[in-house]
Amino acid sequence: MYFLKDKENLRSSLKKKRDALGKELRFKKSEKIADFLCEINEFKQSKTIFCYISYKSEVETLSLINLILESDMNLYVPKIISGTEMIAVKLNDIANLELDDIGILTPKSNEILSEKVDITITPGIGFTKKGGRLGYGRGYYDRWFSTNEVKTKIGISFEAQIVMNLPLEKTDINMDLIITEKEIIRPKK
Ligand SMILES: Nc1ncnc2c1ncn2[C@@H]1O[C@H](COP(=O)(O)OP(=O)(O)O)[C@@H](O)[C@H]1O
Ligand SMILES: [Mg+2]
Repeated sequence: MYFLKDKENLRSSLKKKRDALGKELRFKKSEKIADFLCEINEFKQSKTIFCYISYKSEVETLSLINLILESDMNLYVPKIISGTEMIAVKLNDIANLELDDIGILTPKSNEILSEKVDITITPGIGFTKKGGRLGYGRGYYDRWFSTNEVKTKIGISFEAQIVMNLPLEKTDINMDLIITEKEIIRPKK
């Protein structure tokens, strides 16, 4: 039996570890992660992508977002609309973003997702090599995945965020693939 406290303790220690990498190192590692992502077939064959917009010490995604916008893929990004709900909104131009209440870049528009998503680029505070994911603690992605069908759910993470085990619950949705600056991890199904 796991307790909520375990997840909270892990969140705070893993977040400290990620912050401690420093901006320059995080930027370099994020570039490597984006390179790995561009190499995989799931990405190359993808038409529709749901990709988070990086915030604070998360794996940086802005250069990736620019690359996707220049390609012929359709890009959707997250928009938080309540304490429990996140929607996927179409993004056509980086200039159509604004800062939301907590300082996360968010689309101004509300053109909600209406097609099937090929891949998601999912943030996390911690991941296991089996595909387990620890988020910020509001379950936004778990809820979104439970109502949206996705071919390949990809978690991107610094190697420092990979842990042996996570106190996972029934509602936690696993990743199909995890990419770090060191490796592409394909959890066995
Ligand atoms: N599909 C869902 N439906 C209802 N509640 C959910 C769902 N997914 C997660 N939750 C709830 O949201 C809360 C936060 O989830 P948690 O997995 O701890 O956060 P995170 O995934 O952000 O780390 C938990 O109380 C969890 O039970
Ligand atoms: Mg969860």
